[in-house]
Amino acid sequence: MHLHKYEKIWLSFGFAALIIFLSVVGVSAFHQGHTPSGGLQKVDPDNLEATPPFDSPGVYEKEDGSYEVIAIAEAFGYTPTEIQVPAGEEVTFKVTSKDVTHSFSIVDTNVNMMVVPGKVNEKTHTFEDPGTYLIVCNEYCGSGHHFMSMEIEVVE
Ligand code: CUA
Repeated sequence: MHLHKYEKIWLSFGFAALIIFLSVVGVSAFHQGHTPSGGLQKVDPDNLEATPPFDSPGVYEKEDGSYEVIAIAEAFGYTPTEIQVPAGEEVTFKVTSKDVTHSFSIVDTNVNMMVVPGKVNEKTHTFEDPGTYLIVCNEYCGSGHHFMSMEIEVVE
């Protein structure tokens, strides 16, 4: 086969463009995986026990005085089952599922998020009034769906 000089140049150019394109795609995919933004963070649902922060669910106070709640949903309940947070402070809930799609819906607030296995969902809320708040599952997830709940005690 005999290739004309210009064809060779164009072939090399096309090949180089392909390499550049693949590198850019590869690098951006890599960056997305490592600097996740809300709701896009990925996690292995079968290995939550060994994956921070889900290896230790609970309430954490951050350096800026706000709070972070790490929670796991699974058929048919949440971990932890009961938490305490202060009123008037920002609380960010980071939730994932161990099995099927659930929801994390705090009654009487606008927090109502889907909880999908493999993904981390996140929502920030400030409880203005002390009291007991109930978290329920709004996504039908099986026979024990109606029993899924978690309690938040908001203290002064
Ligand atoms: Cu979990 Cu419905």
